Amino acid sequence: MRKLRIALAGVLAVGVIYTVGPSTATAAPAQAPLAVAQAKGGNSAAHAHGPGRTSTDLPLRVLARKHGLGVGTAIDMAALESDAVYRERAAREFSAVTAENVMKWAELEPTRGQYNWGPADELVEFARRNGQKVHGHTLLWHSQAPAWLTDGVADGSIDSAELRTIVRNHITTVVKHFRGKVRAWDVVNEAFTDGDAPVLRDTIFRQHLGPNYIADALRWAHAADPRAKLYLNDYAIDNINPKSTAYYELAKQLRKQRVPLHGMGFQGHLDLQYPLPIDAPQNLARFDKLGLETAFTEVDVRFFLPVDTYKEAGQVGSFNTLLQACLLTPRCVMFTVWGFTDKYSWVPGFFDGQGSATPLDENFQPKAAYRGLQQVLAVASGSNGRRGF
Ligand code: G3I
Repeated sequence: MRKLRIALAGVLAVGVIYTVGPSTATAAPAQAPLAVAQAKGGNSAAHAHGPGRTSTDLPLRVLARKHGLGVGTAIDMAALESDAVYRERAAREFSAVTAENVMKWAELEPTRGQYNWGPADELVEFARRNGQKVHGHTLLWHSQAPAWLTDGVADGSIDSAELRTIVRNHITTVVKHFRGKVRAWDVVNEAFTDGDAPVLRDTIFRQHLGPNYIADALRWAHAADPRAKLYLNDYAIDNINPKSTAYYELAKQLRKQRVPLHGMGFQGHLDLQYPLPIDAPQNLARFDKLGLETAFTEVDVRFFLPVDTYKEAGQVGSFNTLLQACLLTPRCVMFTVWGFTDKYSWVPGFFDGQGSATPLDENFQPKAAYRGLQQVLAVASGSNGRRGF
């Protein structure tokens, strides 16, 4: 009988969410149906989470628990140290954190052989205190590499053999330092070019270590922490396209060679001026079938300001498309936004005239995008807890 009652509550909850929302035929502001349900007191969803508690009260990390899914955010360490509201919301909403910058090579080893562990250790401690898992970002990337490295290669003072030793030492030192504290690493970030015929980027790593540098980096990271999950990570690969297919072929080859690749990170930086990656579920399914974990690692949805109800609706649909794709993929373990509040988003500084790309506004107030994520997590049946997050 108890099971039947819970099931009924679940159905009612779904019913409330979808029957009370504003009719799409009206020009009503794109409010999230759930918020309307709550406003009208129609909160049968309460019974799904206990009296008086509707899913609009529950943080994302709590709603994600029934799916066995980690919900994360990139963390701006300057904000974490200086902004108490930022700190509180980051702890409350998320079960995973990624260093937006402080685990990148230029930040960790600004001077050769001298490591600046402080900020990254602070993030790891914050995560420990708040029961959050850490996603390490990133060991090898052609951007934000330290000047002593790139200048040394450019002027020839660092040759190919020495670069190989330096890269191996960096990966080994960093992964060993965080051993047991970082669940997964973006071992190589943004390895492929864009466009219709993607190839490995012509980075100093590709030039001097050869095309197998990715396999080498994965093996070095695995030797340093055999328990860490090892990912490749890139942008513009959320749907099936030449670039995501290049990763699929690479992943297939690496797995065949028994190289320790465990996951594929889809950054998920979306822009309303480009088509929605509506075939994201089919794309992730390819990698899942290889036995890989998948994750959306850096989701945000930017657009040209000012905000209007249509852009807001497009943003809700975009966030929801990626989250639903993750929930439809058995081993999609994590859905991480690249910053959770517009107050600290990287977007305005990189895309002139664009912004409002994150789920909370500058005052940490939930936007429709946040309500949309809550709804998807709340109404999707508890898919499966075996995601292993
Ligand atoms: O740390 C220096 C500081 O010492 C200096 O005073 C200041 C002014 O020059 O710059 C600071 O470094 C900045 C760094 O963020 C830390 O704040 C860099 O200039 C700035 O370029 C860097 O931007 C980061 C960007 O990666 C670099 O490409 C963004 O915050 C970060 O959100 C963004 O994140 C990347 C992911 O790592 C990979 N995927 C794409 C994503 C967006 O580009």
